[in-house]
Parts: sequence; C-alpha cells; structure tokens
Amino acid sequence: MATVVPALANLHTETRAFPPSPEFAAQANAQPGIYEQADQDRVAFWADQARSLAWATPFTETLDWSDAPAAKWFADGTLNACDNAVDRHVREGRGDRVAFHFEGEPGDTRTLTYADMHREVQKAANALESLGVSKGDRVAIYLPQIPEAVISMLACARIGAIHSVVFGGFSAESLRQRIDDAEASLVITADGGNRRGKHLALKPLVDEALAAGDHHPEPCATVKHVLTVQRTGQDTHWEKGRDVWWHDVVDPASDSHEPVMVEAEHPLFILYTSGTTGSPKGLFHSTGGYLTGVATTHKMVFDLKPETDVYWCSADVGWITGHSYIVYGPMTNGATQVLYEGTPNTPHEGRWWEIIQKYGVTIFYTAPTAIRTFMKWGEAIPNQYDLTSLRLLGSVGEPINPEAWMWYRRVIGGDRCPVVDTWWQTETGSIMISPLPGVTATKPGSAQKPMPGVGVDVVDDHGDPVPDGSGGYLVLTEPWPSMLRGIWGDRPRYERTYWSRFPGLYFAGDGAKKDADGDIWLLGRVDDVMNVSGHRLSTTEVEHALVSHPWVAEAAVVGASDDVTGQAVVAFVIIRSDAVDLNEDGHEVAVALRNHVSHEIGPIAKPRTILVVTEVPKTRSGKIMRRLLRDVAEHRPVGDVTTLADSTVMDAITAGLEAGKADED
Ligand code: WTA
Repeated sequence: MATVVPALANLHTETRAFPPSPEFAAQANAQPGIYEQADQDRVAFWADQARSLAWATPFTETLDWSDAPAAKWFADGTLNACDNAVDRHVREGRGDRVAFHFEGEPGDTRTLTYADMHREVQKAANALESLGVSKGDRVAIYLPQIPEAVISMLACARIGAIHSVVFGGFSAESLRQRIDDAEASLVITADGGNRRGKHLALKPLVDEALAAGDHHPEPCATVKHVLTVQRTGQDTHWEKGRDVWWHDVVDPASDSHEPVMVEAEHPLFILYTSGTTGSPKGLFHSTGGYLTGVATTHKMVFDLKPETDVYWCSADVGWITGHSYIVYGPMTNGATQVLYEGTPNTPHEGRWWEIIQKYGVTIFYTAPTAIRTFMKWGEAIPNQYDLTSLRLLGSVGEPINPEAWMWYRRVIGGDRCPVVDTWWQTETGSIMISPLPGVTATKPGSAQKPMPGVGVDVVDDHGDPVPDGSGGYLVLTEPWPSMLRGIWGDRPRYERTYWSRFPGLYFAGDGAKKDADGDIWLLGRVDDVMNVSGHRLSTTEVEHALVSHPWVAEAAVVGASDDVTGQAVVAFVIIRSDAVDLNEDGHEVAVALRNHVSHEIGPIAKPRTILVVTEVPKTRSGKIMRRLLRDVAEHRPVGDVTTLADSTVMDAITAGLEAGKADED
C-alpha cells in the first residue's frame, strides 16, 4: 500500500527486548494465561472484570451491539462511579488509607484518606444539589490540579450529573464553546491556580466566557451558578446571585449523602477533544463499561498493589489520562496517589524527582515530552534524588522514541523497572495497546500488544490486515466496554468520524506498523490532528483562530516534528497588505498572532513558528496541501508538486524562508 506517513518507510525498528525480572513476573497481577483466557470468550472476560465493581443491581446482559456502532455494555445493571471510587473502600474498612498526597506548587501539602474523600464528596454532592443540579445535568469543571477537581468530578458522578472538565490551559472562548455545546448549568472553577511560581487566573476567564463578547452577542443562557474554590486569594469580580464560594456552600454542607444509582449506560462525563474540523467534539463515556475498562487496565498494566504502592500519574485531570488514570481507574482500585499542582521546573528542575523521593512513589506514569525535556536538562538532576522506590514506569500520549525510552528506563528506572508504553485515546477511554509488565519482554519504542479482550489490527487502504513487517492504519476490530458512546448531540458525526473509513472497524486516526514479531509500533496521526506535548490540536482549529485576526487573509497550519514536544505548531500566514507594513513589523506580527491564538484557544495552541508567505500551496480544487508545508517546516526537500494549481508557490515559500522571514518562538 501507499506509505501512510513519511517516517514509516525508513522507520528503524528496535530489536532490543527487556524481559521482566523473575521477581517482577512472579508477583505480577497479570500472568501469561490472561491472553488465552480473554481470547476464549472476549465478552465473558469483560463480564468477569465488570463483576469486580460494586453494583446496586447486578447486570445480566453483557454486550448489546444491535444498534452498532452505538454499544451497550452491562445495560440492565445499576451502579454509581463515586460509590465505587470512594464509598466502597470506606465500607470495606479501607477508610484510613491515603487516597491523595497533594502537593501544591508553592509547597503546601494536604493528605486526604479515603474517609476524608468520602466526607468531601458527600458535602460537595449536597452542595451541587442545593444549587439545583441533578441527574443528567451537565457541569463544567475548570479548575487547577487540586483535590477539589477530583472531588468535583466525583460529586457530579455521585448525583448522576455529567461532568465536562475543561483543561485550565484553555481560553475563555474555548470554555464558552464547551459550555454552550453541553448546555452546562453550573461551572466549578477557582480564583486561580499556581503555575511557574505565578498566580494564573481562572475565574476572570469564566466571567469572560459567560459574558457577551466578540463571538457571542448574548451572555451564556444556561449557566445558573459559578462555584468558585479559593486557591490563590486573587481578587475577583463577583456576580451576586450567580457566583458562590466553595467555602460558603460546600464546607458547611451535610456530610451525609446517598449516591444516586444510575444505569450502566448513563453518561458519566463528556470530554471535548480536537478532531479534524474547527469545532471540538464532545465525546461521552458510559458509567459501567467505562469503569470496567479503566479499573481492569489499571490493575493489569500498572500492576497496582493498593496496600503498598504509591502511584503517580503526572497528567492533568483536564485530559482523559487524568480522568481514567488519576480519578476513576486508580480510585476504583483503592490506590494511594500523588497529585501535584504545578510544573516540573518550579521552583527547580528536580521537583518531580524530589516528589518521588518524598512520597516513595513506586509507579510513575508520564508523557514522552516530559521525558525528553528531562533528557535535555541532564541526568545529573534526577541523579541527585533517591528513586529506588520506583518499580514500574509508564508512558502515554505520543510515540516514544527508543532513545527517550532507554533514558527513562536507565536514568529514572535504574535499569530495574519495566517500562510500559500505553497507546489509547480519549475515545477509547482506557488503554488499548501496552505490554503487560510481568509478561511481555518490552521493546524500546513499541506499545506492542493489544490488551486482553481488545481487538487491534493494522490495515491497508482497503481495510485488509497487513502482514507482519508492514505498516498501515490502526483499527480496533471489536467493541470494548470503555469505548466512547458517541459525540454529544451528533450521532452522524460519530459514525462518520470513526466508523465510515473502514466499515465495521473503528478507525483510530493513527498510522502503525507490525514488526516481524507482530508487535505494534505507533507512527503518529494520519489525519489533520496534531499532537503537541501529548495535547491534541486540530490544524483547522488553529487556522480558524488565525484568520479571525484582522491582519490575516489566509492561514495554513501543520504539525512539524519537534525534538522535545513531538510535534510543534507551524503556521503559514498570508497577511493583508493593507494591514501592516511587514518590513517594519515582521516580529511583531508573529508575536501578535501567537498571542491571538493563545487568547482564542489557549496557550497550548500557540504556534512555535510563524511564516509569513504570499501564497499557500493548494490543489486545483482548492485544498491546502499540508504535506508540502510539512516538508518546508521540517526542512526537507519539498515533495511532489505536480498536483499543485501553481507549482511556483513552493519555490516562493522556500525562498522567503531562506530570506529569514520565519519567526520562531
Ligand atoms: C496519540 C491520550 C503513540 C495517538 C491518551 C492517539 C500515542 C492520540 C500514544 C490520542 C502512544 C497516545 N504512542 N501515540 N503510547 N498514546 N497517542 O485523545 O496519536 O489525548 O490517537 O489520548 O495520542 O490522544 P488523546
């Protein structure tokens, strides 16, 4: 078949393999027989896993795929996610176990046991109900990484409300879009959070989001209240009647609340993610199937021993990794966790390793971008700390290059800890491809094996499986319990996006290769989705933001490889000649546009490079040829230009680039 991504053709697959130590293998939660067990009867395997949750009404039905691609799992059972994550542990005598060691960026700490969490979620649930929120209502959560974020999510789950967490790095406009799409009635936020030693404001962005503005002639009509946690003590505007302080309504609320049992298919949350168009998709997940997926995979992949392990996932709760592997998976399994508010280099570049040493972290889960950043800072920094408590390392969010994998294993893991590279998506809810740490001989840079009970394949353009040693498109071949149940309010888009490319198969949007052993190597996105530091961004979304600036006539955006962030946003813009004098203001244009994107979408979407051009390459039908722009952005000779409407365009762009018009952040 045709090459899926340019990197595929000359991908050098690693041949090194690291079997688990006999000691690790002997004690591992997942033993070799688990694959066969799952293969014998996939659906029965998942039903068995689901039975380890606490159900109010046990299910008798397992998978219902009759309305495919809308799945139902365990549909006649009822349960509550908060009851599983919190109450159950207290009920069964584990209330004294620490749920979270919270570490604020300024150095403040809080220890919350499961009994403490139980008290807090009951108060918060009562407070939400007193604010008029009930089962099925949507609640937007826009908080820093503090315990109240977890408590808010679980309090929603407790009353059957559907949370929609919006990452704190998104702009007011992004927040507004998400509030409107979900028709949220409550926003939970904080005055601000701590970021790089500074107070980052959040409540003012909520105020801006809810007000009438450039993009919205009317103020937001659905939000009745804004519940605000006091975190930084910043001054904040207060709207009487609408705004309430957490300490005024949650702290004094009754700490007794009966969880609302919901049907297994009741939506637990909506989480927005970037697709290939300008508008983010509100993916929603179920309660019973989702919990089954996250709890099972968390136990198998991270080998959690809840009595002795201290687990730390460095993701933000605003992303799916935080939902699945901070809140719902680990808490359902009764884990003791670290929760850290800030950045890795505040106040110094050893902060993370200091935290691992301080709490005796045994299992650590982070992203390749972070690992590459630490490599750049040098191993002398982690070497100053005692990291011998670690016994297992995980990676997620983007392809991990073998060098980073080896560094992680050697410098952080002391050549002792298995490294699990876990592939999954917001859509899949839980890990789909990963080594099992006590079973698989791990290979640097490969996610390797589908999880037990999960069907994965790599197919060609026609949807036919490719042989070992070849590349193609990654697909999931069977429904799985934690799969997304749809895109909020848009079933056709759900079917079109995921199920139409290869009928009967879920198309993930990633390129992949099977090596000679059949192990899977992920090769990055094959669509217009960028992956910057493990954050998903759509090229179209950034283009929309750029052209909404009065100076910009046209914009084309690509994700170009970047040594640290995996990909970086590179924008090619055509400036209106009447708007600015480019000879004077080249750098200022770049600064202004970068800030504009940050204001429109959020700082995570800021272009690294802005190239002012006079044309962008287009096909005769007017489609931007991103492939060619990526060549330019990655300093490669420009590929085949025969389909271009005007073949001289690329020469002009390359010449402009050489003349120094690129502005790098
Ligand atoms: C990418 C994050 C390679 C992939 C959990 C996927 C990965 C997208 C890996 C989903 C990995 C995630 N190796 N690529 N181990 N994990 N990806 O929805 O392109 O934020 O489609 O979920 O990240 O990003 P999302």
